[in-house]
Amino acid sequence: MPEHAPIKPIRTAVFPVAGMGTRFLPATKAIPKEMLPIIDRPLIQYAVDEAREAGIEQLVFVTGRGKTAIVEHFDHAFELEATMRNRSKTLEILEPTRIEPGNLVTVRQQVPLGLGHAIWCARAIVGNEPFAIFLPDELMIGEPGCMRQMVDAYSHVGGNLISVLEVPYDEVSSYGVIAPGARREVPGATLTEVTGLVEKPKVDKAPSNLIVSGRYILQPEVMNVLKTQETGAGGEIQLTDAMAQMIGNQPFHAVTFAGKRYDCGSKVGFVEATVALALARPDMADDVRALLKRLLEAG
Ligand code: G1P
Repeated sequence: MPEHAPIKPIRTAVFPVAGMGTRFLPATKAIPKEMLPIIDRPLIQYAVDEAREAGIEQLVFVTGRGKTAIVEHFDHAFELEATMRNRSKTLEILEPTRIEPGNLVTVRQQVPLGLGHAIWCARAIVGNEPFAIFLPDELMIGEPGCMRQMVDAYSHVGGNLISVLEVPYDEVSSYGVIAPGARREVPGATLTEVTGLVEKPKVDKAPSNLIVSGRYILQPEVMNVLKTQETGAGGEIQLTDAMAQMIGNQPFHAVTFAGKRYDCGSKVGFVEATVALALARPDMADDVRALLKRLLEAG
């Protein structure tokens, strides 16, 4: 795709949420890990909020068995709402859970064959349009949000865009890593050309310490690549491997996210996110700061 090809807007976001969440067992035995709350919002809500802030209307959840609670969360809850109304409680608090009818679609990933396979399961809904992907484990807090920053940059360059961030070299083998090329400025962001992509490389094989951080804008052609994608790292069909095939055929850039990222796929990251977001909330910050001080002083 030449860079002067018309840039189509991003209207659809895919959320792969079929994972079993084994790292959080037993908490995730009966509830999806995406429903674990950071304070009073489930993780998935933060990703959906970020998508909407970026102007994305259609949400596609790639789910699996035992994941219906995620869909329930974005549905009407008649009994709850009737009870709240009867008690003269405002329903404003439920506003973020409301999705325009028809704008939430679920598809099932029947077998856990990897992230690339999960995305491919959404191909019929994505159709021939560019689309966004959110990995809800990665909690991205920024103003504007990560996807908004990406959509703005995309409006200048089109093609494929991923968000990246720098991590210490000893962590690169847990992630997708980019080979960085030339840098260029667009209004509001510095873009790095992506000249290569490797999923979970050994430290000595990593082309940089810039990792793929769970937000993507991809052209629909990636679905054709995924269709025949062989298994890669960990014996899974990797999205990173399919994206690597697109380099050279279509523009491919990385946006360095200006904001804070919390890895809520790990327990420590989850606690960090909880504490950081509590300290940023005017209704809780003072109390939480005081209690943290108390706990730390008590050793
Ligand atoms: C996935 C992607 C990887 C990316 C990471 C971000 O890995 O495959 O490229 O860097 O998410 O969290 P996973 O965490 O599913 O192993």
